[in-house]
Amino acid sequence: MSKNEKRSRVAIVTGGASGIGLVLSQALAENGYSVVIADMQNAETAAKKLQAGGLNVVGVKADVTSVEDTANMVAVATKTYGGLDVLVNNAGIFTSLTLKPFDQISPAEWMKVMEVNTLGPFLCAKAALPALRARGGGRIVNIASTSQLKGAPFMLHYTSSKGAVVGFTRSLARELGSEGITVNSIAPGFTLSTGVLAAGMEEKMGEVVRRTGRSIQRDQTPEDLVGALLFFSGEGSDFITGQTLAVDGGSAFL
Ligand SMILES: NC(=O)c1ccc[n+]([C@@H]2O[C@H](COP(=O)([O-])OP(=O)(O)OC[C@H]3O[C@@H](n4cnc5c(N)ncnc54)[C@H](O)[C@@H]3O)[C@@H](O)[C@H]2O)c1
Repeated sequence: MSKNEKRSRVAIVTGGASGIGLVLSQALAENGYSVVIADMQNAETAAKKLQAGGLNVVGVKADVTSVEDTANMVAVATKTYGGLDVLVNNAGIFTSLTLKPFDQISPAEWMKVMEVNTLGPFLCAKAALPALRARGGGRIVNIASTSQLKGAPFMLHYTSSKGAVVGFTRSLARELGSEGITVNSIAPGFTLSTGVLAAGMEEKMGEVVRRTGRSIQRDQTPEDLVGALLFFSGEGSDFITGQTLAVDGGSAFL
C-alpha cells in the first residue's frame, strides 16, 4: 500500500443482522468500512442484502457468549479484510424481555440477560484484542442504554447488565488507552428497532418514555445512533475514551 493510499477500515458489529445492529452495519459500510455482521441468526442473509447494494459486508454466525464463535468472528474479519479496527458490541437481550417486577425475575432469567449483555462484550473484546493490537490501535464501541442511567422499572436484570457495560467501558478504557485502543459507550433511549416493533414493545411504553420525556419530543429510530457511532469509530475521537454518550433526544443528562 502506498503512503497516500488509505486502507479500508474494518468493523465487526455483533447482533448486526437486525434491529439497531443492522442499521449500524449498513451505516459503517456506507461510510467506507468493510463490515463483518456477527449474529447468532440471519447473519449471512443480512450481509447478502447489503452486498446487493454494493457494500463490503460479510456475515458470520456467532453467539457472543461462545469463546469459539467470538474467535471465529475475528478470524473471519482478518481473513476476509486483512485486519480489524472497530468492534461494536451491540448484541444484547432486550426485545425478548418480559417486563416484570424484580421479585418475579428468576435466577435463570437474570443469568441469561447477564450472560449475553455482559459476558458477550467481554468475550468479544478478548477475541478482538490481538487483531486491534496488530493494527497498532483501534476502537471498541459498546451499546449501553439510558434505562440504566435514569432507572427503569420491571427490567432490573437488563438495567443492571447495562450498568455493567458502563463500568466495563470505563475500566477497559484504562487498560487499553496506552495502546491506542479507545473504549466508549453509546446509550440509546427507547428506540423503534425492528425487534422492538415486532415485539409490540412500543405499545407498552408510555408517552414519557417514547416522546414527552425527551427534550426533542419524537420517537427515536436506529438511524439516530449513526452519528455517534461514526464519531466513536473514526479519527475525530482519538483522545476520547471511557465515555458514555446518551443519544436519546435529551432525556438523560450525564
Ligand atoms: N431498542 C431499544 O429501545 C434499545 C435501547 C437501548 C439500548 N438498546 C440496545 O441496543 C442493542 C440492540 O437492540 P435492538 O433493539 O436492535 O434489539 P433486537 O432484539 O432487535 O436485535 C438484537 C440482535 O442481537 C442478536 N443477538 C441476540 N443475542 C445474541 C447472541 N447471544 N449472540 C449474537 N447475537 C445475538 C439478535 O439475533 C438480533 O439480531 C441491544 O444491546 C439493546 O440492549 C436497545
